[in-house]
Amino acid sequence: MRKLLATVFVFSLVAVLAWNYLSVPIATQWSEEELRLIASLSLDSLPPLPSDPSNHVADDPAAAEFGHRLYFDTRLSSNKQVSCASCHQPDLMFTDGIPLAVGADIGSAHTPSLVGLAYSPWFYWDGRKDSQWAQALAPLEAKHEHASDRVQLLHLIAGDTTYRAMYENVFGSLPANLRLPESASPNGDKEQQDNWNKLDSETQASVSRIFSNLGKAIAAYERKLMPGVAKFDEYARQLAHGSATQQDQTLNNSEIAGLKLFIGKAQCATCHNGPLFTNHEFHNTGILAASGQLPTMGRYDGIRISRDDPFNCQGEFSDAETSDCVELRFARDSNDLVGAQKTPTLRNIALTAPYMHTGQMANLRQVIEHYDDAPSSMLSHNEAKPLRLRAVERRQLESFLLTLSAPLATEQKWLVAADY
Ligand code: HEC
Ligand code: HEC
Repeated sequence: MRKLLATVFVFSLVAVLAWNYLSVPIATQWSEEELRLIASLSLDSLPPLPSDPSNHVADDPAAAEFGHRLYFDTRLSSNKQVSCASCHQPDLMFTDGIPLAVGADIGSAHTPSLVGLAYSPWFYWDGRKDSQWAQALAPLEAKHEHASDRVQLLHLIAGDTTYRAMYENVFGSLPANLRLPESASPNGDKEQQDNWNKLDSETQASVSRIFSNLGKAIAAYERKLMPGVAKFDEYARQLAHGSATQQDQTLNNSEIAGLKLFIGKAQCATCHNGPLFTNHEFHNTGILAASGQLPTMGRYDGIRISRDDPFNCQGEFSDAETSDCVELRFARDSNDLVGAQKTPTLRNIALTAPYMHTGQMANLRQVIEHYDDAPSSMLSHNEAKPLRLRAVERRQLESFLLTLSAPLATEQKWLVAADY
């Protein structure tokens, strides 16, 4: 009897171990379809950076130098304490480590990463901006971010010898004869708006043109922020070259099992696909609003706002021809975009907690549990379906996500403030 029990025990032990470890696929067991998918996720599949016809200085090195300084400069804010880098911190892969961003005041959204973002056709969680330069203008005037305005910024640039020289080198002379109050903007408080409305339309257009140029310089800088080759990419290379034998592969068995789940049963790659792990589309994944907030309409409102934006691709401050503005002209408009947010990149995801548009998920375990449960959405419907993963599978998925971290493929000088 004791012998029988011992045999049963050993058998169950082997069965449990096999269930946990031996069921893990080894390199040679990838199907052709899986190999194709894995290659498509690798950084080696990243195409060259697309041009931005709406920004004629997008790839001008002098514009990037100027934008780099603006990016780190707290003098661009009303309280002289906030810069883009306060929230998009280079050390945290251009995020801030807190649920809701705090600038001059607390905002209502979580700070997303800026790495690899120049590939994106839309900006913000709801995609309400259609270019990186138009996006960069919004925080400068937003009350909870820099809380400055376009006229104050113009005075700053004109009055600082370095900035004036950098600006004029890229965009030509600043107009000499503008008569302006200290502060004015169509987006500010009552006084700022009143000041703005007193300006004639020609002056307004000159000011907004200079303002848009600041955004174009910042965008030229942001285009430098590119992801680096991670452990996952090395594994994908090994597979592509047929050198990933079970002994020398870069990923361990748990990470490989997680990858298999990611592109298979867990369906993550339906939205997180391509070398940046995003389809650049908008989806409702049943994420709750931040506590005390109403759920946002997401992309449903975002597309409308971007169409009305004077700084959009078809507007007077854009350098593009209307025919270049394909994304804006043909953007989808439908009820299923209610509550939909932009699919974020998963590159460096281990370094950018907390997660989601309101930052209410503290860690990747919570994210994976959310997808496993797929709760109903507060608005419209959750596109994702419950996954019913086993505990070991949830851990494997997480261990795969950790293989996507790598130092940026960006020169060090861009990751710190410039010397003055
Ligand atoms: C107070 C913190 C804060 C400051 C300051 C700030 N941002 Fe952001 N940024 C955010 C938050 C939060 C979001 C997401 C907001 C949303 O989608 O509604 C965001 C979104 C973005 C996006 C869009 C990201 C995406 O995935 O589409 C870009 C690009 C960006 N910021 C660049 C900048 C630049 C450039 C500056 C400086 C001019 C700046 N930010 C200043 C917090 C900040
Ligand atoms: C239907 C499309 C879709 C599917 C399927 C999907 N995601 Fe997402 N994912 C998104 C969207 C959209 C967001 C942003 C949602 C939000 O903030 O409201 C997101 C956010 C995330 C985030 C947080 C990113 C950040 O920077 O805050 C992680 C991590 C993540 N997804 C991992 C996964 C994993 C793992 C799977 C598979 C189990 C998966 N996703 C499946 C669309 C999807």
